[in-house]
Amino acid sequence: MKILVAETISEKGIEKLMNEGMTVDVNTKLSREELLKVIGEYDAIIVRSVTKINEEFYRRATKLKVVGRAGNGVDNIDMEGATKRGIIVVNTPESNVVSAAEHTIGLLISSCRNIPQAHARLGKRVWDRSNLKGVELLNKTVGIVGLGRIGSLVATRLKAFGMNVVAYDPYISDARFKKYGVEKKENLEELMKEADFITVHTPKTEETMGMIGKDQFRVAKKGVRVVNCARGGIIDEQALEEALKEKIVASAGIDVLVGEPNPTSPLLDFDNVIITPHLGADTVEAQDNVGITVAQEVISALRGEMVPNA
Ligand code: NAD
Ligand code: MLT
Repeated sequence: MKILVAETISEKGIEKLMNEGMTVDVNTKLSREELLKVIGEYDAIIVRSVTKINEEFYRRATKLKVVGRAGNGVDNIDMEGATKRGIIVVNTPESNVVSAAEHTIGLLISSCRNIPQAHARLGKRVWDRSNLKGVELLNKTVGIVGLGRIGSLVATRLKAFGMNVVAYDPYISDARFKKYGVEKKENLEELMKEADFITVHTPKTEETMGMIGKDQFRVAKKGVRVVNCARGGIIDEQALEEALKEKIVASAGIDVLVGEPNPTSPLLDFDNVIITPHLGADTVEAQDNVGITVAQEVISALRGEMVPNA
């Protein structure tokens, strides 16, 4: 069986594929055109979040049996198109959640304490402490939108900082809110009105894209601080820009942008916004977990065995 690894996964994952007798081509630099040209040769492809697996792709992928998503969200994969063709899609939903939660906390603290901005000044050999005053987390309210795997890890960690944690997630049981000691908000507006910090942890869906937009910022506390380590656009980027200009939002920590890779986002022009280039899952541990897990799943799917995350 021939597998194309089209985005970077850990060496351990590649070794696993090879040790199981697969023919593996690692080519993470293919242009879209080149990818479409070669994909017809492969039984499986492994991608992360950049490669768009869509109708155009499937039409060319005539031998394809498995798509391995080395990560969590499957928003770059047309699931209906796969199902229609009997192509199995596997992902690794558990493998990077701790890293994503820790990155969220990192963004939250870095942005509310101006850590990257302070380092940038010192990088220019300037010792200047003006306009870098931050805020504490203790006794503040954080509103978590989406209390799933990552949202709940974030909740547990922020409780340890003495924060009051509230969440909005209409799709989970009350028992889950209780389990994490999180106050349930019946609607987003309630959360927006009460939160000093807001962090989003929903999948990217039609419903969640732009779910924090103009109307939501209008009812938010003045000086609210936001974090998006989920998917670009869940917090509407234009609305965020306006809210920053109007000083409704005091700071933002962002890991994901619409149209990635996006090194020219207008959000980069704000001194009180810090942005990382989709690094939420980029740790040694998460990438090893993800690489090994996706390799195992692709092998199992190609062999017609049971796959836990298909
Ligand atoms: P999950 O499926 O475990 O949890 C998502 C939660 O969102 C669920 O509880 C669901 O009920 C809730 N939800 C769905 N629609 C909602 C809505 N309209 N309003 C409120 N809540 C809603 O997912 P997860 O593993 O926690 O991942 C969360 C997000 O993080 C995903 O977008 C994923 O792609 C992203 N992610 C990003 C990185 C990164 O590198 N930045 C890494 C891993 C995951
Ligand atoms: C994910 O959904 O797992 C993340 O966005 C991380 C990644 O794609 O590497």
